[in-house]
Amino acid sequence: MEVKNKIVIVTGAGSGIGKATAIHFAKFGATVVVSDRQEAGAKEVVATIIKDGGKAISIPADVTSFEAVENLVAQTVKEFGRLDVIVNNAGIGPNLLRTHQSTLKDWDKVIAVNQTGVFYCMKVALVQFLKQGGGNIVNIASLAGLKASPNNISYSASKFAVVGMTKSVAMEYATKNIRVNAVCPGYTESALLTQLINAKPEMDSVLKSVIPMRRYGKAAEIADAVVWLASDNTKFMTGQTITLDGGTSL
Ligand SMILES: NC(=O)c1ccc[n+]([C@@H]2O[C@H](COP(=O)([O-])OP(=O)(O)OC[C@H]3O[C@@H](n4cnc5c(N)ncnc54)[C@H](O)[C@@H]3O)[C@@H](O)[C@H]2O)c1
Repeated sequence: MEVKNKIVIVTGAGSGIGKATAIHFAKFGATVVVSDRQEAGAKEVVATIIKDGGKAISIPADVTSFEAVENLVAQTVKEFGRLDVIVNNAGIGPNLLRTHQSTLKDWDKVIAVNQTGVFYCMKVALVQFLKQGGGNIVNIASLAGLKASPNNISYSASKFAVVGMTKSVAMEYATKNIRVNAVCPGYTESALLTQLINAKPEMDSVLKSVIPMRRYGKAAEIADAVVWLASDNTKFMTGQTITLDGGTSL
């Protein structure tokens, strides 16, 4: 995949899909800024990439802070001279409560990370992309951004928003050499999924029973699609969502 020498930021890259994505970009010759609000995980990912002969640094950022996002992009540009790709992956899971029982705290928290965080990252990256004449955004949405997911109001709202923002922003900047696409994973092995199953162990068999492939996705399988969307192999593609869900959406 054609991402060699691209400068790539991955948010929430300290674990799960973000970690797999950072490692995958490095494997194809990109220089990766591994960013997470938790620095320890991000530093481990950087060490793994460097051990395997790749290029990476860690710049911590909590995507709910606009100043932190501005600093993330500014530091990246200071270090490498430009920014080619931002993968807006940082996200948190929901509380799994019915809407009338859901809490305002959960709503605010999930929207702040999953929706506003993506907006902040796009807004700041776009300024840099316009300055340098192009760039590429890949947002991590979810199957929950395409289909109903009951007992999941904040997460559902945030992921539908990510899909909407992806399409609208793609159209806005289509003539500016800036592409914006999204990946919609179904249930994928990660800390987020483990947390969900730990909260309700009966969910494991329930979830698998609705996945035609009868298994969860692997983070590396999602990373493949992210790197492809960010690569020069998909130059005519913008405003699209790719679903990787073992057939669940069918
Ligand atoms: N795992 C799934 O089944 C699944 C399915 C669909 C979509 N997704 C999406 O994929 C993305 C990655 O999730 P994952 O499953 O790898 O979960 P994960 O919990 O393994 O990883 C999420 C990472 O984001 C980081 N993070 C959380 N809040 C942050 C913040 N405010 N600022 C910066 N970093 C923050 C965490 O520290 C963590 O490293 C999320 O957007 C999630 O909604 C996951």
